[in-house]
Amino acid sequence: MRQAGRSLPEYRAMRRSESILEAVRNPELACEITLQPVRRYGVDAAILFSDIVVPAAAIGVGIEIVAGRGPVIGEPFRRAKDINRLRPLEPEVDTPYVIETIKMLKGALDVPLIGFAGAPFTVASYLIEGGPSRNFTHTKALMHTDESTWFALVDRLADLAIASLVSQIEAGVDAIQLFDSWAGSLSRRDYAYFVQPATTKVLEAVGGTGCARIHFGVGTGELLDLMADTGTDVIGVDWRTSLAEASTRVGTHRALQGNLDPALVVAGYEPARQESERILREGAKHGGHIFNLGHGVLPETDPDVLTRLVEYIHSWDPRATQ
Ligand code: CP3
Repeated sequence: MRQAGRSLPEYRAMRRSESILEAVRNPELACEITLQPVRRYGVDAAILFSDIVVPAAAIGVGIEIVAGRGPVIGEPFRRAKDINRLRPLEPEVDTPYVIETIKMLKGALDVPLIGFAGAPFTVASYLIEGGPSRNFTHTKALMHTDESTWFALVDRLADLAIASLVSQIEAGVDAIQLFDSWAGSLSRRDYAYFVQPATTKVLEAVGGTGCARIHFGVGTGELLDLMADTGTDVIGVDWRTSLAEASTRVGTHRALQGNLDPALVVAGYEPARQESERILREGAKHGGHIFNLGHGVLPETDPDVLTRLVEYIHSWDPRATQ
């Protein structure tokens, strides 16, 4: 349940004036924020408090995360020479605070810890657009007008993700999630040609460590089989595609993760419970299933609805309802 924390009063109180990137750079604070949703909700895993732009920010790409908006880049990447702004990540030097936070968490948690990185396409989209985007026009223009720059860029971003993920795994995370949040904006053809190879490079490199891999994007129903065919162990599904349909598209060789619509948690306990029951039934039919939301927790979510929902999901018994 990424960004579960932002609906919590204890999170808002701790964050206060600091920017999110400053909070990530403070291991004590990042550790405490990671623990908050686990303590409050009793979920079965923790997700590291960090962000997909942390490695790029750490190697000197000027990035800020603006509240209510997302990552913003002062000078967007548009030309071949911009690629030189991406030097290799040296995790012990560039992101020691991430390693420190993970080590602290391993001592404090009694559930698994999930580390993560942004997939090359989604991080590239922020660098090229300069911020969040609806149509990804600059990103798609670069792909289709300057292929060699595009491939060089996503290759460097793949290396950035690999270096970050390997350092997180060495520090002790139990699973990793690769977020290609905005891949759903691409056609199947563009995804397969321009994006899938770089993502596969990341997931295969990380696979060598034996760490479980989860891959997720929003609105990716039409790409699910391609995204599952990148070396991942688990494929995340957003709420637009039912798990029954995802199971048909992906096949039974990958576990599914998902996929309650976060808006239904805002709608209230009963709508969320009813939909969760359907999801649990479909997930049980598929085989491997990790229940979570189809995307992040919305800020207006009532924490008590989530608490009750976690209790319901834990108490659900597939034998009693089939
Ligand atoms: O639950 C957690 O706190 C997990 C840590 C986490 C954050 N970002 C912290 C965060 C994770 C896993 C992410 C991943 C992330 N960041 C993604 C991929 C996941 C997804 O949502 O698809 C993306 C696309 C980003 C980039 C980003 N960072 C966006 C679009 C935003 C939202 C801006 C807003 O305010 O609506 C952020 C900010 C952000 N990152 C927040 C948190 C808790 C919320 C804002 C804040 O507290 O300042």
